[in-house]
Amino acid sequence: MARNIVVTSALPYANGPIHIGHLVEYIQTDIWVRFHKAMGDNCLYFCADDTHGTAITIHARDEGISPEQLIARVHSEHKADFAKFFVQFENYHSTHSEENRLFCETIYNRLKQRGSIVTRDVEQSYCRRCNMFLPDRYIRGICPRCKAQNQYGDSCDSCGATYASTELLEPRCSICGETPGRKKTLHYFFRLPDYAGYLRELVNSGHTHKSVAAKLDEWFSAGLKDWDISRDGPYFGFKIPGEEDKYFYVWLDAPIGYMASCKNYCDRQGLEFDRIWNNPDWELYHFIGKDIMYFHALFWPAMLHGSGFRVADKLFVHGFLTVNGEKMSKSKGTFLKAETFAKYVDPEHLRYYYASKLSAGVDDIDLNLQDFIARVNSDLVGKLANIASRSAPMITAGFNGRLGMLDSGGRELLNELTAAKKQIIDDYEQLNYAAMIRKITALADIANRYVEQNQPWSMIKTDPPQAGKVLTATLNAVKVLTVYLKPVLPQYAQRIEKLLNVGPLMFGDIDTVLENHSINVFERLTERIDEKKVIAMLEENKIRQTAAQTQTASAAALDEPLSPECTIDDFAKIDLRVAKVIDAQTVAGANKLLKLELEIGPIKRTVFAGIAKAYQPQQLVGRLVICVANLKPRQMKFGLSEGMVCAAGPGGSEIFLLAVDSGAKPGQRIH
Ligand code: 2FM
Ligand code: ZN
Repeated sequence: MARNIVVTSALPYANGPIHIGHLVEYIQTDIWVRFHKAMGDNCLYFCADDTHGTAITIHARDEGISPEQLIARVHSEHKADFAKFFVQFENYHSTHSEENRLFCETIYNRLKQRGSIVTRDVEQSYCRRCNMFLPDRYIRGICPRCKAQNQYGDSCDSCGATYASTELLEPRCSICGETPGRKKTLHYFFRLPDYAGYLRELVNSGHTHKSVAAKLDEWFSAGLKDWDISRDGPYFGFKIPGEEDKYFYVWLDAPIGYMASCKNYCDRQGLEFDRIWNNPDWELYHFIGKDIMYFHALFWPAMLHGSGFRVADKLFVHGFLTVNGEKMSKSKGTFLKAETFAKYVDPEHLRYYYASKLSAGVDDIDLNLQDFIARVNSDLVGKLANIASRSAPMITAGFNGRLGMLDSGGRELLNELTAAKKQIIDDYEQLNYAAMIRKITALADIANRYVEQNQPWSMIKTDPPQAGKVLTATLNAVKVLTVYLKPVLPQYAQRIEKLLNVGPLMFGDIDTVLENHSINVFERLTERIDEKKVIAMLEENKIRQTAAQTQTASAAALDEPLSPECTIDDFAKIDLRVAKVIDAQTVAGANKLLKLELEIGPIKRTVFAGIAKAYQPQQLVGRLVICVANLKPRQMKFGLSEGMVCAAGPGGSEIFLLAVDSGAKPGQRIH
C-alpha cells in the first residue's frame, strides 16, 4: 500500500549562498523523496529559509540593506540553486512568514500554560552608547588565546578558539566602539529537564540512528538544562506575546518553519494541515546534519510534545563534507558555491558521486576530485550510459527503431537484474546509497558482459533476428538499471524514458518488459567530466574568493571599532588657525610631501604636508589654508614639522585643502 510521508531538510540560513557542503543533505533527502515517489508513495518534501537572528542582521547591515531585502534576495537565489541540482520541494517557504509566527505563538502559549516556560534575570553584555544588549557577534576584541585583533565575541577566526565574550581582551561594541558593560535583563526559558523522561524514551524507541543515540546518552548523563528562548530587541525575529521588546531566539522559530512550510502548502492546495502533520497515517522524517542534533533531538521534540503537536518518526543525521580530505578551503578554491559548481560540472554528476559515498551513519564524506572524475567517467559514463549508447543506435539502424522479443538468454539477464530489486529498495529506504550504487554498477557490469559476449554489432550481419533479441534484452536491461538509478539521476532517467519511448518509470515497472515496442532515436545521455574544467573551476573560485576576501577585509576595516572616545574638551584643545602659505617646496626623496612655510599672524611655522600629488608648490604660494597650530612639533626624516594643514580626500591626487573664506585673516581662529 502506498505510504503517506512528509520529509524535511534543515532550513538553510538566509545570509549566504548554498554551497556543496549544504548539498550533501539536500541531495541525500531529495534522493530519498524521489525514491518514495518512484515507489508510488505520497511523499511531500518541505523546506524554507531560516531568516531570523543576529547573523542575518549583521549581514544585511554590511550590505547596506534591510534584513527583509536580504532575505527576499537570498530566497530566490536559494531556490535557483536547488533547482540546478534537481532538489525538488513541494514547498520552499520562509520562517519570516505569518504561518510561522502563528505556530510560534501557539506552541509558546501552550508551553506556557502547562508551566514549561519560566522567566529569570540574566546578566548580559550591554552597550551603554547604543542602548542595546550585545549578542556575542556584536562584540569584537583580541582573542584571548592567539591575541589576533578584531575577533568576534564567541570564537576566533584566526586560531579557531571558542570562548565566552567576557574572556575577550579589550572588548568593544562592534557598532560604536564603546567598551561593553554588563546589565541584568529578564529572559524566558524553556524547562527542558522536565522532558528528560520523555526524551529518553523517544531515543530508546529508535528515533535516531544508534551513533546519534550514543551522543544523546552523553547529553542525558551530563544533565539537561533550561533553554534560553528569548532575546532582547533590537532583534530580527518574532516578538514574544505580551512583550514589547523581547523576541523569540532564532532557534525557537527555525524548526517551527517546517510546519509553516507544510501549512503554507496545505493552504494553497486546499488541504487541511492537521490531517497531514498531526495524522498518524502520515509518517514524518527530518534530515539534518550532525552539528544541529541537540536542537533537533532534544529541544524540538520536547517543544512539540509539550504543545500537543506531532513529533517526527525519525531523525536522519548525516556527517560533514570534506574536499580532497580537508575542510572546504577558500584559498584552495574548494569552498564551492552550488552556482559555481553547476557552471563547470553537470550537477547530476555530483548527485551520483554523493550517492556513491553516502550511508546511514554520521561519518563525514569526502569529495575527492580525482576520484570524482574517475568514478563518473568510468562507472556512470563508461558502464551505465554506455549500454544504451552502443545498443540503441543499432535498433534504429537495423530494426527500424523497433524492439523485438526476448529469448531465454535475454530473460536470464533480466532475471539477474530484477532479482536485486528488493535489496536496492532496502538500501534506499535505509539510506545505504553507497551500497546501492555499488550494486547497480555490478549489475551494469553484468549487462555489459552480456553485450560483449553476444557482440550484436557483428551478429547483426550474420544473424539479424538473434541480434534483435540481444538488443531487445539489452535495452530492457537499460530500463531496469534506469529505474534503480532514477532517484539519483532524474534528468538522465528522463532522457532514457524519452529514448525508450515510455512514460515516467516507477519501481513497479521493473518486472514488465518492452517487447515489440518502438523506441526513439538515441540522444546524448551524459558527458564525461573534463578534468580541465574541474581545474578551471578551482582556479576561478580561488581568484573570486580571494577578491571577495579582500572586499570583506576592507569592509572589516570600515567596520573596525572606533578609537576610544575623546571628549568635547579633548576636541577643544585643537587650535585651528587661518594660515597663509608664504613658500612651498618639493622635498627631495619624498614624492608625497611638500614643505610649506606658513604665516599664522605673527607666527611662522614650517609644515611638511602629504599633498604633493594633488598640488604644485607654485599653486599654493599666497593661498590661505587651515592649520592645526598647536600640534606638538614632530621630527621627521626631512626636518621638523610644526603643525598640520587640514585637507581631506581619498588620497593621491584627490586630496583637497579645506577652503577658507577669502576675507579671513592669517592667525584668525576657526571654531
Ligand atoms: O544550522 C543551520 O544552518 C540552521 N539554519 C538550520 C535550521 S534547521 C531548522 F531548525 F530550521
Ligand atoms: Zn555600541
